[in-house]
Amino acid sequence: MHRDKADGCELPEELRRYYLDAMGIQVWEELDIQDFLSVAAVTEDRASVEPSSSVNKSQTSIINVEVSNCDWEELRAAVEQCRLCELCNTRKQTVFGTGNQSADLLVIGEAPGQDEDAQGEPFVGEAGQLLTAMLKAIKLEREQVYITNVLKCQPPNNRDPLVDEIKNCHSYLYRQIALLQPKAIYVVGRIAAQALLNSKESISKLRLHQHNFEGIPVIASYHPAYLLRKPSEKKAAWHDLQQLQKLLEA
Ligand code: URA
Repeated sequence: MHRDKADGCELPEELRRYYLDAMGIQVWEELDIQDFLSVAAVTEDRASVEPSSSVNKSQTSIINVEVSNCDWEELRAAVEQCRLCELCNTRKQTVFGTGNQSADLLVIGEAPGQDEDAQGEPFVGEAGQLLTAMLKAIKLEREQVYITNVLKCQPPNNRDPLVDEIKNCHSYLYRQIALLQPKAIYVVGRIAAQALLNSKESISKLRLHQHNFEGIPVIASYHPAYLLRKPSEKKAAWHDLQQLQKLLEA
């Protein structure tokens, strides 16, 4: 039972979710890194994809794919065939990632948008063009870095990713990180940063400190799409990029 703070009456959980859903409010559940690690992990011996409990049993033959030992091409194929969540029914195609597979820098965004879903490549829309310009500002060509997203499929109408979608997709991202072994990770936007860092902090707080993921330094910053809406934050984003540049040149 959920107790409504305003009037003290108790709403059954299902009803509370129904009302929130009707108001277009998404319910976020706590992300637990142990949950992720039990599904998949970065290290070779731990990473594997198990079907989530909500997945139809008839799909398990397609989705029970071990990714721990996958090379790049096998991993790409596993992502292309993934049917772990409902997004497989609405995507045009999966968006695996692009760039230099020996890159020092890994850029992680949230999820493909409409342009990315159509082209099969991350960050090709307006936000992607800004990202390319931001990388150029620290003397990096897009082709020199590796770019991917937390989710490999577009959520319908660009809604925020659901917790289960993030959990299901983590094994792919973790394996990409393990294969790439980048010198630094640049994670953009609240959702991607919270997912990678298993945090609930706002992006404005997360960007204030350097983090690390399995020993790899992480710089969290504003999403280029947000910077397009709020150009006054570009100054802060430039500061973050300079921190990133220092890390890469160290
Ligand atoms: N926004 C993202 O987070 N990723 C993309 O690939 C495109 C837009």
